[in-house]
Amino acid sequence: MIYVEANNLPSHIGIIMDGNGRWAQLRGRERVEGHREGSKAVRRIVRAARRLGIRALTLYAFSEQNWARPELEVDALMQLLREFLLSERDEILENGIRLNAIGNLGRLPAVVRTVLDPLRNESATREEMTLTLALSYGGREEIADAARDLAREVAAGTLRPEDVTEHTLHARMPSLTVGDPDLVIRTGGERRISNFLLYGLAYAELHFADVLWPDFTEHDLYEAIASFQRRERRFGLVGKPAEPILASEGEVATPASTDGAASEKAAENAPVLRLVG
Ligand code: FPP
Repeated sequence: MIYVEANNLPSHIGIIMDGNGRWAQLRGRERVEGHREGSKAVRRIVRAARRLGIRALTLYAFSEQNWARPELEVDALMQLLREFLLSERDEILENGIRLNAIGNLGRLPAVVRTVLDPLRNESATREEMTLTLALSYGGREEIADAARDLAREVAAGTLRPEDVTEHTLHARMPSLTVGDPDLVIRTGGERRISNFLLYGLAYAELHFADVLWPDFTEHDLYEAIASFQRRERRFGLVGKPAEPILASEGEVATPASTDGAASEKAAENAPVLRLVG
């Protein structure tokens, strides 16, 4: 049994869905078969996240670097994306999901754009959960784009150079309109970030799962969230003090008194602390 606290959910979860190719290879099948099975996992996890009440889910579906894969694989991935968008359209709209996309969308072929763009528009006012597909996406590219936007504003005289700050940069990152990711999950056993949500990752909790993406289940998602909930997020501050343990009932301090001698006595009797954990 996995316990997930409903009042401490990560608001924004990002997932690096890795391991489709290996899943297929392990079964002596074509890599594309792994991506097809990976699409089923996408459906499963989107449903589970929405049911749980996750506000934003960002899936790394295709990186800017993935264009360099064999043409057959790229075409198959684009076809799978199209099929996913067509088959999930009704469920997305009926369940209050806003479908968003980030990345260099201009590079996507028409087979994808013709289904992606209308669904983005149609779902734009849905508020239950934002599902963002990172497509032709790269974290460094996103930072460079945001920096270029700011540079243009400075050149146009609409922004002062001193207003180029971490906040103005943040405000120009499409991946962060739903807020910074609180939890980033990577499946497939590798422990790296691979150019995903780089700027927003500053204080994200990272969860690495060995399971290959096509095998990733609701159960694995709950486990990742439960692990997130066991952590103390400090955002660069100091942690909560460890709970003091009273050595014995007799050593509990009496309320402070304004009387000097009495407060000295109280200090002597202050609770004995034993740090735990
Ligand atoms: C990485 O696994 C995965 C991808 C590059 C594509 C992810 C695509 C899907 C999950 C399916 C289509 C997406 C949607 C949203 C319907 P890999 O191929 O690098 O695996 P490997 O590391 O085992 O080779």
